[in-house]
Amino acid sequence: MRVLSILTTAFAACTTVSAFAIEARDAATVVGDIRTLTTQLNTLQNQLKAFQGGAAGTGAALQIQGTEQTIENTLKKAAQDASNSPNFGNSGSADVANAIVGVERNIYSVLDLLIQKKSAFATAALGFSATGLVLQDLKNLKSQTDAFGANASAKLVPELAKLAPLLLSNIDYHYSVAIDAYSS
Ligand SMILES: *[C@@H]1O[C@H](CO)[C@@H](O)[C@H](O)[C@H]1NC(C)=O
Repeated sequence: MRVLSILTTAFAACTTVSAFAIEARDAATVVGDIRTLTTQLNTLQNQLKAFQGGAAGTGAALQIQGTEQTIENTLKKAAQDASNSPNFGNSGSADVANAIVGVERNIYSVLDLLIQKKSAFATAALGFSATGLVLQDLKNLKSQTDAFGANASAKLVPELAKLAPLLLSNIDYHYSVAIDAYSS
């Protein structure tokens, strides 16, 4: 019994190692990350729309914070996957660029909602400044988005890599507007 269980464990360890070794990152992995990001941004959008602040909104504010952290982790994973991927090639580059263009809309909606909800965050009873927390979140999201953008751009074919700075500076501009709103 014991030998069997040791063998089973050893076998499981081997398959885990080989599964890890063959788990290559590529454009499809990055597109999958962007799809995950889109879903999480939609969740955040719905949470923000419902958010009213105040003492009654404490649980909601913490949920929003949790979703924001999840989004940061997805952006980190996307940046790592892009960095671990070989060049995306023609169709992979088109897929990644389209996915980024697609997710832009979701990012802008979240940023607009955050600006609209500033006064709600100002009244959120977290025991510390919720607007300060949102400001920090915005700065983190911006720098992680930039890191992902840079790492993904590096794998695009030159024709699309040329367009990336315009796309990314547009996203940066929207982040800056939201950061300004929370800085005053
Ligand atoms: C971005 O790519 C660089 C170079 O491959 C890598 O060192 C860095 O860790 C990547 N950034 C993230 C956030 O994974």
